[in-house]
Parts: sequence; structure tokens; C-alpha cells
Amino acid sequence: MKILVIGKTGQLGNAIYQKSLSSKDEFIFTSRKDLDLEDIDSINTTLSQFGNLDLIINCSAYTAVDKAETEIEKSVLINEKSVSQIGQYAESNGIKFLHFSTDYVYDNGLNTPNVENGKLGLNSQYAKSKYAGEQAIINNSNTVIIRTSWVYGNYGNNFLNTMIRLGKSRDSLSVVFDQIGSPTYVEDLANLALALSEMDWKGKSGVYNFSNEGVCSWYDFAYEIFKQTNIECKLSPILSEEYPTPAKRPHFSVMNKNKIKTSFGIEILHWTEALKNCLANR
Ligand SMILES: NC(=O)c1ccc[n+]([C@@H]2O[C@H](COP(=O)([O-])OP(=O)(O)OC[C@H]3O[C@@H](n4cnc5c(N)ncnc54)[C@H](OP(=O)(O)O)[C@@H]3O)[C@@H](O)[C@H]2O)c1
Repeated sequence: MKILVIGKTGQLGNAIYQKSLSSKDEFIFTSRKDLDLEDIDSINTTLSQFGNLDLIINCSAYTAVDKAETEIEKSVLINEKSVSQIGQYAESNGIKFLHFSTDYVYDNGLNTPNVENGKLGLNSQYAKSKYAGEQAIINNSNTVIIRTSWVYGNYGNNFLNTMIRLGKSRDSLSVVFDQIGSPTYVEDLANLALALSEMDWKGKSGVYNFSNEGVCSWYDFAYEIFKQTNIECKLSPILSEEYPTPAKRPHFSVMNKNKIKTSFGIEILHWTEALKNCLANR
């Protein structure tokens, strides 16, 4: 199988890259310098240079949630227009397309686990642009969109690395406890991508939720990180209104993962176990 992975330098792209080193499949990775997703007109020409592909995995995105509130055009280009273009290319060349979206589309005021076809709330530019990207490819064949949440790992900018850095340099820290979701270890997300790449998607195109199992607040996540790393830093729970950010975040973005489990036979680890695995690989 010949697989193109767009976005080698991000958390997910890097995790897939590490796994590709021991894979029998042929992988091609692009970074921004090979394929700039803001340059929509160049996408088709660049993709066609890679010859016949079986699968495209798009790990790239405009992920600066707060900055997106002011960099609207950029977020639209990267999270919607480029996705649409890649999707069209995949569709017209019979290539499977695996794309990633976000739990932030579920900012809906509900407090029960969100299902893929349930109520949405698009209350930030990031969520709007990611959802528009989903919509641009939702009717394509052989297309799977994974909504994931709170992605972290040992590489890249993420909550785990920030908490370890701050926890080691400060005596105390305040973290919000009224945003509830589920962390996702990037290795588990990369394993999912590679498992899906081997499967038949016939009749299964569409949107799927995926994170680790279990539920927590960012405060609980920080608490568990400090516990598992023996970092002694006093943690205080605060409300989102005490830590204002330019972009509004959902209060409850827990996702129901039954669809991916039953459709593809995926088993999912609890987030505290996944965190243990991550820290063991550090
Ligand atoms: N991180 C999370 O907590 C989270 C939560 C929910 C959903 N997701 C989704 O999961 C997917 C993977 O996220 P991630 O955490 O791995 O993202 P990430 O670490 O922020 O990486 C984003 C990638 O996109 C690339 N990129 C950005 N703008 C580009 C452009 N104009 N042209 C080409 N490449 C560009 C970046 O390249 P540079 O290194 O050159 O900037 C980087 O490789 C994304 O679809 C994201 O929306 C993430």
C-alpha cells in the first residue's frame, strides 16, 4: 500500500512517522515546505507528483484555537479549503482519505456523551473551520473523518508537556475544572490511523468519534500527570471565567465512541492507562 501522510511535523504526523519506520507499507510524508496548505492552487499539482496512492492521511490543521479568532482567513484556508481540495483529489483518483476533526464542534450545552449525528455548537472559529472541512468531504466515498480530543504525547506542544514544564518550575498552578472531556494519547490515535488503513471502508464512510476511554476535567488531567510523574506542585481548580481565553471552549465535549468500536472493532484504553504508557516512553 502507498500512503501519503500530510503534516509530518505535528503531533500525529510525527507519531505516524515513527510507526512507518517499521511498516511494510510505502509511506510518503510532507511538511509545510513540500505542501503549503494555504496555497490552495498548488495542492493538485503537488499531490499528482506522488504517483498512484492508496490512502491519504491528513494530519495537518490550523490548531491555534485562540489565534484562529483573529486569523480567520488562515484557519479557513487550512481547515476547510485545503481539505476540500485534497478530498476532491482523493475522490477523483479513487484514493481513500483519512481526515481528523475535533470534539470542539460539540459545544452544545448538553452533558451526555456526544454522538456523531447529535447536536453541535460551533462557538469558536476553530470549531467552525474544522466543521466546514468535514462538510467539504462528508459526501465523498472512501472517506473517514475522526473527531478526536485533547491530543497529547511526548512530542510537540500539548497539555502534558506544558504541565510538566510548569509543574517543575512553579509551586502552585490553577487549572480549569469546568471543561470536561477525554484525553487522547497520540500513539493510540496513530495506531488507530494505521489500523484503519488496513481495513475495508466500503459502506463506512463518515464521521467517527475517537479518544481514550474515561472522562476528566483539565484539572483532573493535570492532577493525574503530577501524580504519575511525582511532581510536587499545588493544584487549584478554577472556573473557565477565571481564565478567560479569546476562543470559547466547550464545557462538556465527552464523546460516545460506540460507532467506531462497532464499525471497525476498535478497542480503546482508559486515559489513565494511556498516560502511563506515554510517560513510560518519555
Ligand atoms: N491537538 C489537539 O488537542 C487536537 C484536539 C482535537 C482535534 N485535533 C485534530 O487532530 C489533528 C492532528 O492534530 P495535532 O495535534 O497533531 O496537530 P499539530 O501538532 O498542531 O500539528 C499541525 C500540523 O499542521 C501543519 N500545518 C499547519 N499549517 C500548515 C500549512 N499552511 N501547510 C502545511 N502544513 C501546515 C503543521 O506544520 P508546521 O509544523 O510547519 O506548523 C503541523 O505539522 C488535527 O486535525 C487537529 O485539528 C487535535
